[in-house]
Amino acid sequence: MSGRPDRTLLVTGGCGFIGGCFLRRFVPEFPHWTFVNVDKLTYAGNPRSVEPIAAAPNYRFEHVDICDDAALAGVFERHDPTAVVHFAAESHVDRSLFEPRRFVETNVVGTLNLLEQCRKRWTSQDDRVFHHVSTDEVFGSLGPQGAFHETTPYDPSSPYSASKAASDHLVRAYHRTFGLPVKLTNCSNNYGPYQFPEKLVPLMILNALEGKPLPVYGTGANVRDWLYVEDHCTAILRVLLDGRVGETYNIGGHGERTNLAVVEAICAVAAVRLGKPQAELRNLVTFVKDRPGHDLRYAINSAKITTELGWHPAESFETGLQKTVAWYADNREWVDGVRSGEYRRWLETNYAGRERP
Ligand code: NAD
Ligand code: TYD
Repeated sequence: MSGRPDRTLLVTGGCGFIGGCFLRRFVPEFPHWTFVNVDKLTYAGNPRSVEPIAAAPNYRFEHVDICDDAALAGVFERHDPTAVVHFAAESHVDRSLFEPRRFVETNVVGTLNLLEQCRKRWTSQDDRVFHHVSTDEVFGSLGPQGAFHETTPYDPSSPYSASKAASDHLVRAYHRTFGLPVKLTNCSNNYGPYQFPEKLVPLMILNALEGKPLPVYGTGANVRDWLYVEDHCTAILRVLLDGRVGETYNIGGHGERTNLAVVEAICAVAAVRLGKPQAELRNLVTFVKDRPGHDLRYAINSAKITTELGWHPAESFETGLQKTVAWYADNREWVDGVRSGEYRRWLETNYAGRERP
C-alpha cells in the first residue's frame, strides 16, 4: 500500500489495546486517510480508548461483529476499504482455556469472513492489502536458547495460539490460492497504556499500586520478549506501507525477561511512585498454580523487518515501563471503567480463590 492521500483503512478491533494505539497515533498523522474502526465492543473493547480521536473528521466507527457476515458485508459496501488492518481477536490465553469456542469463532471464522469480503470485492488488487496482525505464540515454546524466525514451524500450545495459527494459515492460503494481497506480522508480548488489566503487566502494576497480591504462575521463570505497544504500531505501519506482499515479518523488542524479573521491575517503579520501600511491594509476590500448557520461553529474531524496512523500537523496557506505570497511576477513571461490569463478573467466576500449588 502506498502513502497516497485517498486511502481508506478498515481497522478491526480498534477499541482494543493495540488497535486503539494504532488509531490514536495514526488518525492525526494521516489526515488524508480515512480510518474505519470495526469493533464488536467485547469486554476488551473500550470506546474510551479512542476518545482522543473519536471526533476527528477522518475517523468512523462501525459497531460490528466480524463473525456477522451480513453486517460485515454492509461495512465493506459503505466504505470500500483499500486496506484492512486486522487486530480484532479474542486475545487472552487464560480465557481461551475456559471458552475455546469463542476463540475459534472470532479468530478463525471472523478472519475468514474478512478474507472472503476482500476476495469477493477486490477485483483490481494492485494497491490493496490485507494486513493480518498475529502473535509469536503460534511458534510454541523455545528452550533456553534461540529465537523465532519467520520460517520457524508452527507449534501452538493454547487454544488462543492455535486459533491464531489457524487464522495465519488461512491468510496465507488466500494469497496462494486467490492471489489476495496479504501481509502478516507476528509480534511478541506488548505492554503499555490502555491494556486490559487481565494481562501480566497492567495486572501487576495495578495490584502493586493498590497493595494487593501479585500472582506469579509457577516459579516465574517463563520468559517473554516485551515490546512497547507504540513500537508494535510503528512496525505495522512500516510493513503496511513498504513490506512485500505475501511476506511475514516478525516483530520483537529484544526485551527478554523472566516473569519474575518483570514483576520485580514493576515493584521498583511503583515503589518510587508510592514513596515506599521496594521490599514492601516485592513481598506481595505470591506464587500460584501454573497455567496448563504454559510456554516456557518466547524470543523474536526481528532481523528481517530491521534490515528490509529499517524498523527499530524507540523504547527500552525500562523507559516503556516508566511510561506505563505512570499512565495507570494517572488514569484511574479508565481503569475503574474497565474493571466494572463483564470483566469483574468473569474474574469472579473463573479466578476466584486461585490456589497456591
Ligand atoms: P484486545 O483483547 O485488547 O482487543 C481486541 C479488540 O477486538 C477489542 O476491541 C474487541 O472488542 C475486539 N473484538 C473481539 N472480538 C471481536 C469480534 N468478533 N468482532 C469485532 N471486534 C472484536 O487485543 P490486543 O491485545 O489489542 O490484540 C490485538 C491483536 O494483536 C490480536 O489479534 C492479538 O492476537 C495480536 N497480538 C497481541 C499481542 C499482545 O501482547 N497483546 C501480541 C502480539 C499479537
Ligand atoms: P499474559 O500477559 O497473559 O500474556 P501471554 O500469556 O500471551 O504471554 O502473560 C504473560 C506471562 O505472565 C505468561 O508467562 C503468564 C504469566 N502470568 C502470571 O504469571 N500471572 C498472571 O496473573 C498472568 C495474567 C500472567
